[in-house]
Amino acid sequence: MRALLFSCFAPRADDSPEQDSKTPTTPAAATTTKKKSVRRLRSATGRLRSLSLDDLSRTLASSGLHAFTVSELRAATRGFSGSSVIGEGGFGPVYKGFIDDRILPGSGLEPQQVAVKCLDAEGPQGHREWLAEVVYLGMQLRHPHLVKLVGYCCQDHHRILVYEYMARGSLEHHLFKNLLSSLPWATRLKIAVGAAKGLAFLHEAETPVIYRDFKASNILLESDYTAKLSDFGLAKEGPQGDDTHVSTRVMGTHGYAAPEYILTGHLTSRSDVYSYGVVLLELLTGRQSVDRRRRGREQNLVDWARPYLRRPDKLHRVMDPGLEGSYSDSAAAKAAMVAYTCLHSVPKSRPRMREVVELLEPLLEMRGDVPAGTFVYTAQPSVKKVQAPAVVVVVGDDKADGGGDRCVLPRGAGGEPPRQSRDRGA
Ligand SMILES: Nc1ncnc2c1ncn2[C@@H]1O[C@H](COP(=O)(O)OP(=O)(O)OP(=O)(O)O)[C@@H](O)[C@H]1O
Ligand SMILES: [Mg+2]
Repeated sequence: MRALLFSCFAPRADDSPEQDSKTPTTPAAATTTKKKSVRRLRSATGRLRSLSLDDLSRTLASSGLHAFTVSELRAATRGFSGSSVIGEGGFGPVYKGFIDDRILPGSGLEPQQVAVKCLDAEGPQGHREWLAEVVYLGMQLRHPHLVKLVGYCCQDHHRILVYEYMARGSLEHHLFKNLLSSLPWATRLKIAVGAAKGLAFLHEAETPVIYRDFKASNILLESDYTAKLSDFGLAKEGPQGDDTHVSTRVMGTHGYAAPEYILTGHLTSRSDVYSYGVVLLELLTGRQSVDRRRRGREQNLVDWARPYLRRPDKLHRVMDPGLEGSYSDSAAAKAAMVAYTCLHSVPKSRPRMREVVELLEPLLEMRGDVPAGTFVYTAQPSVKKVQAPAVVVVVGDDKADGGGDRCVLPRGAGGEPPRQSRDRGA
C-alpha cells in the first residue's frame, strides 16, 4: 500500500512535458522544463510538501477517499463501454458508473452512481492534473458547492478519478446545447449563487486557492440544479505573505481568462472573479463567451454585451431571448451590474467573490416583477457529450510552473484567437 501511494504521488517520468509537442526538445531545455514540472507538482500538492511518506499514507487513509482498482471500475462502468460515456474533455473520457457492495465488497461505500474520469494517455493532460484533483478535492477542500471526489485509481499507467454523479451534467450543456428547453431565470440565479459560493470558499480557504479554469463546462449541476465546481487540474495556491500575485504560465480557457493574466501571467483571485463575470454574462445572455459563428464584435461576448450592462433601459437587448422576458427586470439589472464590476479591467476594482454572493443572493427572493409566463423546465441532459467549444490556452513562455499541454499565444496577444490544442469536434 505504501509503495503504491508513493508511486502515485511522485511525478511520473512518462508524464513529463517532454511528451508534449509544444515543449522544448533540446536536452537542456527539457531538463529545465522537467524541473519546472516537478516544482509545479510540489506547489499543487501544497501542504503535502512537508509530509513524510508515512504521514502522506495516513493523510490519504483519513481523507475518506477510496482507492479503486481498474477491474472494480471496469465492473462499475459495464467494461468502460461506449454506452456509459457521458462526456469527454481535456483529461479524457468520462463514464457513468454504479458502485455497490457487489462491486466493492466490504468497502463501506454507499451504493451510488458515480462519474468515472479516465486519463487519456494520448491527451494533453497528465499525472499532475490528476494529482492536483486528488489533493485539492480529496484531501484539502470539501464544500457543498465543490463536486465530491469519491476516490481514485492509480494502477500501473492508469490515472482515474471517481466523482459523485451530477445528474444534470454541465451548465454548458444546459445553456448552449439543449435546444429543446431553456433554463428559467430563477434556476440561472440559483446556479450563479451556488457557483459564486464555491469560488468564494476557495478564495477564503486557509491556504487560498485560485481556481484558474472557471467556465460553464466546469460547473456541474445536481438534480435540483445545485451548482458544484469540478476540475481542479489547473487550480493553484494563491500568493503567500507579502506577494500580491503568483507568476505562472498562463493557462485557462480562451474567452474566460482575465486580460491582465493573459498579458502578464500575474495570477490573483481577481482573475477568477473576471472569469466568473464571463459566466454570469453567459447566464444572462444565453450566449457563449466566444462564438465564431457570430458576426464581428458579437463573437466576443464581453465586448458585445459590456456597454449594455450598466443601462437598465437597454439591458433587454442582450438578455437571453430564451427567457422570453420571464425575469425580474430589477433583479436582472442588479445581476448585470455585478457582471459589469466582475469584468472591470482593473483587477482591484473587481469585487471579492464573497461580495458577489452577498449581492446576488438577495436577488433569489426578487420575483415581484417577473411577468407571468410559461415556466420552462429542462429535460434530463442527453447522455452523450456534444462538442465542447471552449479552447484551452496557454500564453507566454514558461515561468514558475511549466506544464505545456495547452494552446500557446505569444504574451500580449490576449485579444487574438489562440491556436487550438485539440480538436474537440466541429
Ligand atoms: N461528476 C460528474 N457527473 C456527471 N457528469 C460529469 C461529471 N464530471 C464530468 N461530467 C461530464 O463530462 C463532461 C466532460 O467533463 P470534463 O471536465 O472532462 O471536460 P470539460 O469540462 O468539457 O473540458 P475541460 O477538459 O476543458 O475541463 C462534462 O461536461 C459533463 O457533462
Ligand atoms: Mg471540465
